[in-house]
Amino acid sequence: MSTIPAPFVVAIDGPSGSGKSSVSRAVARALGLAYVDTGATYRAATWWCLAQGVPLTDTDAVAAAVRTLPLDLGVDPDAPTVVVDGTDVSADIRETAISAAVSAVATNLEARAELGRRQRALIEAEREPGSFSGGRGVVAEGRDITTVIAPDADVRVLLTASEEARLARRALDVHGTADAQAVEATRDQVLRRDADDSTVVQFHTAADGVVTVDSSHLDFEQTVEAVLAVVTAASRA
Ligand code: DC
Repeated sequence: MSTIPAPFVVAIDGPSGSGKSSVSRAVARALGLAYVDTGATYRAATWWCLAQGVPLTDTDAVAAAVRTLPLDLGVDPDAPTVVVDGTDVSADIRETAISAAVSAVATNLEARAELGRRQRALIEAEREPGSFSGGRGVVAEGRDITTVIAPDADVRVLLTASEEARLARRALDVHGTADAQAVEATRDQVLRRDADDSTVVQFHTAADGVVTVDSSHLDFEQTVEAVLAVVTAASRA
């Protein structure tokens, strides 16, 4: 485990299929930090709205439902869990129905403000000795993490990859193959969702002080190493 100051906060954002979830988890594991998946809060909120029968087109009703969301987000990078109102929805929130609907919550500004507050609280909690990380800190991942939620993180990374690489990875994840048909089937999910989300958050170009790691030509381990190298360089500075 490399030595970094404590507490230490790493913020990682990037578009769909950039590998940010698996890379963030591996980085957290390597550094002994907690892991906060902010996308999971949007997915959990979407699940909750659907479970409550809230029409996702009703902006005020969605915002009101999100304010009452009874969410418990587990921050162990080896087993990140998402529990809503006592139900473990970790698997359900990855279903296509949620992926297809989540932009309605992610583009709702009041819902973003509420979920943003909760994400900041999860990050802050990891600075405390009694937390999961024992005060070592956290790797937090998600679209607006480097710019809006944790702009003062010790290290901020924008993980990018070419559109081609991102589509192939997502196709492999969802369909088990990256042949032409699987890539086509994935195109809408990845590109439309990113286009919708870009109306409220900017995640394709790095803000000032954010280091870009392009994983187009890197495998998983190489990408994790590249992010860890950014962390090492920053903690020496
Ligand atoms: O990373 P993901 O696919 O689990 O994210 C789910 C949705 O939430 C996706 O539409 C992007 C959005 N999101 C966001 O707007 N802001 C974040 N900090 C994290 C995710």
